[in-house]
Amino acid sequence: MNLDDRRFDHRKMDMLMGADRQARWNPSAFISRFDIRPGASVLDLGSGPGFWTFPLADKVGAQGAVWALDISQEMLDELSQRNPPKQVHTLRSELPKIDLPDSNFDLIWMAFVFHEVMPPQKLADEMFRVAKAEGVVAVLDWRPDAAGEGGPPRHHRLSIEQVIGFLHQAGFQSVEKTWQDGDAYLIEARR
Ligand SMILES: C[S@@+](CC[C@H](N)C(=O)[O-])C[C@H]1O[C@@H](n2cnc3c(N)ncnc32)[C@H](O)[C@@H]1O
Repeated sequence: MNLDDRRFDHRKMDMLMGADRQARWNPSAFISRFDIRPGASVLDLGSGPGFWTFPLADKVGAQGAVWALDISQEMLDELSQRNPPKQVHTLRSELPKIDLPDSNFDLIWMAFVFHEVMPPQKLADEMFRVAKAEGVVAVLDWRPDAAGEGGPPRHHRLSIEQVIGFLHQAGFQSVEKTWQDGDAYLIEARR
């Protein structure tokens, strides 16, 4: 398989930051379900231009840190041009490897990226490695049986059961789907 076939085309990055998507997700409200304390350390995997990075940075505040990791320099450049606060750090890196130390993050957030990365088990293993003992991993991704027409090809998507399986296999004891709508699901994992 050509991995680039799965990867989001950076030339479509404007769509990621558009008003329609803001209205669809209201990202600040969506992430309020997590107990993100001021001073927390958060990793935004496959951040793109920062749709989730900016509200995450608001939650952790100036004493916290949000690491925005992406393989695409174009995405990270766009994020930087949007003047992120100083607690945002960008890192160009190719998943599934995460070039960051063990046991480092209170929240690892991954929105619409898990299905793009191969092999997924290696990705789950790396998420486990960099999560703090009390940390949370949260995966938001497309349903293969989505009602709507948008999003990546259905044969690229992973089922809820597949993602739960990868996270369990990585070592997380508590893994559950905590939200879904007609198009997407959210899975949260804890040790
Ligand atoms: C669909 S976009 C989602 C961006 C962002 N999470 C959001 O929801 O707005 C997928 C992102 O994952 C990044 N990505 C895909 N494969 C990657 C990999 N192997 N390593 C790092 N980033 C990757 C892409 O460059 C792109 O920015």
